[in-house]
Amino acid sequence: MQRPLIRLASIVLLALGLGGCGDDHREERLRAAGPHPSLDALMKVADADVGARKFRQCAACHSIIEGASDRGGPNLYGVFGKPIASNSPRYGYTAALSSHGGTWDERTLNAWIANPMKMVPGTTMQFAGVEDPLTRADLIAYLRSQTPGK
Ligand code: HEC
Repeated sequence: MQRPLIRLASIVLLALGLGGCGDDHREERLRAAGPHPSLDALMKVADADVGARKFRQCAACHSIIEGASDRGGPNLYGVFGKPIASNSPRYGYTAALSSHGGTWDERTLNAWIANPMKMVPGTTMQFAGVEDPLTRADLIAYLRSQTPGK
């Protein structure tokens, strides 16, 4: 009597375990990053594959394939390390973004993804921003992974 029950229990546990595979190891990664993690600490535990999934919220406006056309926003393939407002030369950037200066690195991308309108008042990137710091780090890791040589 006991054996089939045990077998059933292990099937249920296995199913739960497999279901957990889609999870992004968030708690483990946050633990590894330590309390009140800095951006550098978050970048050490950032996961580009998770970022790829989170990029769905950007994909309404951005392609990220080499040579793909711009959507509402510029193509982001290779944007990591580029001067701000230069990734897609055909794209009509706002004067606000074009005159900002600087390059897209961890720090500027983090501020931008958190709140584009705060970083660059007058930008046309109509996006509320990503509140969660680990999700931002994952997105930055993904953008970097889609930049050859970075
Ligand atoms: C509703 C549309 C929209 C969404 C959603 C959106 N963006 Fe944008 N994005 C834009 C527009 C429009 C611009 C150009 C802004 C300007 O010229 O001021 C832009 C510009 C950018 C740039 C600057 C590129 C360069 O060449 O300097 C980056 C980086 C960027 N977006 C990243 C993201 C990321 C990452 C997400 C998702 C977390 C996202 N965007 C979501 C519309 C969007």
